[in-house]
Amino acid sequence: MLEPDKELLEFMKCYDTLKNNCVEFISTEMTFPLRLEVLWKHKKTFKECRLDTDDIKTTFHVGVMKEGKIVSVGTFLEQRNKTFNEEKQYRLRAMATLPIMKNSGYGKQIVEFACKELKNRKIEILWCDAREKAVGFYEKLGFQTKGDFYDIPLIGKHKLMYYKLK
Ligand SMILES: CC(C)(COP(=O)(O)OP(=O)(O)OC[C@H]1O[C@@H](n2cnc3c(N)ncnc32)[C@H](O)[C@@H]1OP(=O)(O)O)[C@@H](O)C(=O)NCCC(=O)NCCS
Repeated sequence: MLEPDKELLEFMKCYDTLKNNCVEFISTEMTFPLRLEVLWKHKKTFKECRLDTDDIKTTFHVGVMKEGKIVSVGTFLEQRNKTFNEEKQYRLRAMATLPIMKNSGYGKQIVEFACKELKNRKIEILWCDAREKAVGFYEKLGFQTKGDFYDIPLIGKHKLMYYKLK
């Protein structure tokens, strides 16, 4: 008999609590459908979409809901990058918008919502490994680039980008 997928069950439970047309904090499980569909096509299950850092206390996830669907997600975690001198750093990971909803301002809503929260937490800098195709998106939001492109296996070229919150 097939074992029930724990991640899927958690996701179904949370789905009922979704509000409409808003940006808000969401659970780890709510990020899985977009992570799987948009970001990590080489993975097969929700279970594989869980990051080690997803459920630690300082990590938070933000989602945009539109007409009963999660259309954009992003994950924000406390992590230092030695390139930056700032003491209080956060990293943005797994930022994704449903393909048919791209360029509608939802990704921007996620980052702006998170930056407000990060400022409340007195965080000084937000950084990310930006995919080559997403560099223009982050630049639009005021992020700056640092250094050259580097390769991340299975995914491709990335550039280190950052946004100073202070
Ligand atoms: C990158 C991504 C998250 C952007 O999300 P989005 O919801 O489409 O972004 P928004 O609509 O909020 O865009 C905000 C602004 O950036 C612009 N923009 C969006 N994607 C862009 C891109 N790839 N290059 C240049 N500009 C971009 C938008 O046109 C908009 O400009 P405006 O304010 O002048 O209207 C989305 O395209 C995506 O999921 N891509 C695939 C996964 C991915 O690469 N994720 C990033 C991993 S690092």
